[in-house]
Amino acid sequence: MSASNRPSNTPASSIPSTGAWSVQSWKSFPSVQQPLYPDQTALAQALSQLSSLPPLVTSYEIESLKTQFAEASRGERFILWGGDCAENFSDCTSAAIASKLKILLQMSLVLVHGTRKRITRIGRFAGQYAKPRSTATEVRDGVELPSFRGDNVNRPEFTLAARTPDPLLLLRGYERSALTLNFIRALVDGGFADLHHPENWDLSFVAHSPLAADYQRMVDSIGESLRFMETLAGGTITQMQRVDFYTSHELLLLDYEAALTRQVPRREGWFNLSTHLPWIGMRTNAVDGAHIEFCRGIRNPIGVKVGPDTVPEVLLRTVRTLSPDNEPGRVVLASRFGAHAIGRGLPPLVRAVRDAGLRVAWVCDPMHGNTETVVPTTGAWAGKSVKTRKFGHVLAEVEQAFEVHRQEGTILAGAHIELTGEDVTECTGGARGLTDEDLSRSYRSQVDPRLNYEQALELAMLIARRA
Ligand code: PEP
Ligand code: CO
Repeated sequence: MSASNRPSNTPASSIPSTGAWSVQSWKSFPSVQQPLYPDQTALAQALSQLSSLPPLVTSYEIESLKTQFAEASRGERFILWGGDCAENFSDCTSAAIASKLKILLQMSLVLVHGTRKRITRIGRFAGQYAKPRSTATEVRDGVELPSFRGDNVNRPEFTLAARTPDPLLLLRGYERSALTLNFIRALVDGGFADLHHPENWDLSFVAHSPLAADYQRMVDSIGESLRFMETLAGGTITQMQRVDFYTSHELLLLDYEAALTRQVPRREGWFNLSTHLPWIGMRTNAVDGAHIEFCRGIRNPIGVKVGPDTVPEVLLRTVRTLSPDNEPGRVVLASRFGAHAIGRGLPPLVRAVRDAGLRVAWVCDPMHGNTETVVPTTGAWAGKSVKTRKFGHVLAEVEQAFEVHRQEGTILAGAHIELTGEDVTECTGGARGLTDEDLSRSYRSQVDPRLNYEQALELAMLIARRA
């Protein structure tokens, strides 16, 4: 039976401890979070089409991102990794894509200014369409249906037809990823990210922001330095005319990832060409599980979430399994403890990895350990439970991550943030002091709450002082 056919959390009957890797070897390992497709013929047809379609990214880009992670792990650059918790197919619009690039560009400008380091920008985009769920089914008024697992698995409406996993959505997800990437590449090639023209990245509401003046000062100061350098160099510094964006998504649906995993001419090994940086989430990071087995055989850098349940010895096994040659830039550990737990939880993991001599890039995800539920007392959402995060907790977790790494003599290589370039009210706090009562005003996320444009920029300003 294929893993996609097995109910979640059911172990495979025999688990080879070591053995030859193949694109399908994960199927003999326990897999969780895989949708149950009732129509296996339709699934096979969708996967066969996916396997023959062109890749979304190239092995060259993947290797270059790995090199950048190696540099970041030595403190030579900083990784800015951010985007929506989940993308929706309906967000594949020119405005939504451009605003994601704009906020990442603005944050990276602030970070360059403050840290004097090169910045690598990675979006949670062009493929972030599948979500892990804490329960396989959802019950409403006594009716039990499969949980909504993201736009490339099923549909959110609470009907049997909508919630039944549909393999055609895998193709629609691949296409949306390609459309998103096509637009990003065209914008970058057309000079959208040119440091000579940061006005291209202005978001309409920036001018009214309490942070506008600080931001403008940084833009002006970078512009002046650039003009000074170009006067000395006697011409335009062309490297400043473009910056690259890399893509990432949670590597969740193994059938989909396997269909886009290929060999390429003149390079050894297998590359997952669905994204530059796949990551393994908290719910699928079992060291003997199918997700780690799949990832051990691909050459991409691999993100792994670590948190309160991560045991140091198991983490060492995970890193050694993924990177038997201890390759710099290959393993990216994203810690997500929450502001109240990081001080206790992170140091033992950092020490274990450091003392074992394992090369990893440590990144802080200050979002996923800080989710809480509040009940507003006024407004449209009075009396309802709403998922939110406090800006103060997000900031406190990043600051503690810097402090832990400083004390342990290791390096914080980057930050992983759920954010949007839009003016939403999903997280509270920040310069504008959003409260629980503001949440109902513009809460758009179907999943986790994101920092809005201002909160994201403010976080970048505060990180810039520490990194
Ligand atoms: C996520 O990054 O959206 C996510 C689900 O994170 P985690 O696996 O850390 O809970
Ligand atoms: Co999330």
